[in-house]
Amino acid sequence: MSDSPLLTRRPEWTALEDHRAQWQTSLRELFADDPGRAERYVVHVGDLRIDYSKHLVTDETLALLRELAAATDVFGLRDAMFSGEKINLTEGRAVLHTALRAPRDAVIEVDGENVVPGVHAVLDKMTDFANRVRSGEWTGHTGRRIRNIVNIGIGGSDLGPAMAYEALRAYTARELTFRFVSNVDGADLHEAVRDLDPAETLFIVASKTFTTIETITNATSARSWLLRGLGGDEKAVARHFVALSTNAEKVTGFGIDPDNMFEFWDWVGGRYSYDSAIGLSLMIAIGPDGFLEMLDGFRIVDEHFRNADPEANAPLILGLLGIWYGDFFDAQSHAVLPYSHYLSKFTAYLQQLDMESNGKSVQRDGRPVQWQTGPVVWGTPGTNGQHAYYQLIHQGTKLIPADFIGFARPVAELSDELKAQHDLLMANLFAQGQALAFGKTADEVRAEGVPEEQVPHRTFKGNHPTTTILATELTPSVLGQLVALYEHKVFVQGAIWNIDSFDQWGVELGKVLAKRVEPALTEGADVPGLDSSTAALVAAYRSLKNT
Ligand code: F6P
Repeated sequence: MSDSPLLTRRPEWTALEDHRAQWQTSLRELFADDPGRAERYVVHVGDLRIDYSKHLVTDETLALLRELAAATDVFGLRDAMFSGEKINLTEGRAVLHTALRAPRDAVIEVDGENVVPGVHAVLDKMTDFANRVRSGEWTGHTGRRIRNIVNIGIGGSDLGPAMAYEALRAYTARELTFRFVSNVDGADLHEAVRDLDPAETLFIVASKTFTTIETITNATSARSWLLRGLGGDEKAVARHFVALSTNAEKVTGFGIDPDNMFEFWDWVGGRYSYDSAIGLSLMIAIGPDGFLEMLDGFRIVDEHFRNADPEANAPLILGLLGIWYGDFFDAQSHAVLPYSHYLSKFTAYLQQLDMESNGKSVQRDGRPVQWQTGPVVWGTPGTNGQHAYYQLIHQGTKLIPADFIGFARPVAELSDELKAQHDLLMANLFAQGQALAFGKTADEVRAEGVPEEQVPHRTFKGNHPTTTILATELTPSVLGQLVALYEHKVFVQGAIWNIDSFDQWGVELGKVLAKRVEPALTEGADVPGLDSSTAALVAAYRSLKNT
């Protein structure tokens, strides 16, 4: 591996540098010169129509980018991932979230063992449990039916189910209440349970490792709340707590019946896990059929990523576009702007998926990278962002590539009056893409009679690249397709940057230091070796806390 040439010394990279150095054209010109561009720069996968025509690329750019992908053997690493090779090098693990949506008869081996039967055994167990909760057959300790489901987890054990629950709200059992608790700030759990009846509340403790301090702390407090509410009988825990984890020993140690544990495996990364047992809350919400439909959606994109030619391979194209801007235009961030209220947590979910995966500065062989890696991912649903930060995207000094996501139809349950608002929502999406790409020239501004001194202020230079992802409706399958699309896009970029997209050592140091500092806050203990700034903060906190 260390014999492989440095990325930036590859001829395919320097060819892109030369291409960038000569780049002069604008989106206005690209469209004017090529009437077929809008049709040609569209890729279809499943129900997604992905328009990448408003990007600063030509056929030559795309060809050069594909050559970079070929030189860095993106598809070789892809095949290694799908076949269960241990491509998470620093943790010595396979990377097989794709096995979570494999059909029942597939064979995918890790260490000589087919993992697919285990995946389906857990899906069956989840199905049975979800059906029993949904039907009222699974009751609480006092015999009352469960009406509230509280997922306790953080990172991948929270963001995925919480995002998908919001996204698919229209498909959820509306008579049940779902809450998601993640923050170790006690206010999170307090607000989640303050209006709930413990007799009707089920806690799902979601933690791959079952050692994450936030989750274990919140789960311990939730158990106290439950026992306080139900008269202190420890037996109640078995009816009100289930666990989603890879760590049976810790789950049992916490006091949760191993029969009430839904397993997954170390080859599923936390940020790639909500289609595993981690999605139990979602399955209860949308029902097993909806969950399986979502898995079908993931699988459609998996198959596409595996089989589509590079010219029409959506995750490859999106990954390459990100590399073009990050490494050759110095773009630092990437906005994801869903024009769907139901996708309000989608970008937050992608932040972990992308930034925890590709926020790396060391290559797979340990050498430092000498190029840009993962972008800052950010964004909120349209149209809210338009009235907040779009100004900077339009007229600021930074290049911010953006993805728009929209749907042709609103969800069925909206009233006719609210459905009618959908065209206005989508008109905004299309208008933003148009304004960002083509802007408004000074002459166009003048032609409107704008006084000369205001012309520079009202001119939009345009040339801001965007992708528009359009689907008919936000269904469970479409959500699965969208998530898999981004999973594989992130994969493509990590492969080219030669980083391990599947570890996350960067979050460890803060965890270790928090454990060291905590006794100083709670017990006033001396923490040797604290730097002077942190020591002063601790001292100020302690004196304020006691005022
Ligand atoms: O923040 C680090 C991390 O390990 C994430 O990758 C993970 O999703 C999260 O913590 C939660 O971990 P667990 O599911 O083991 O509680």
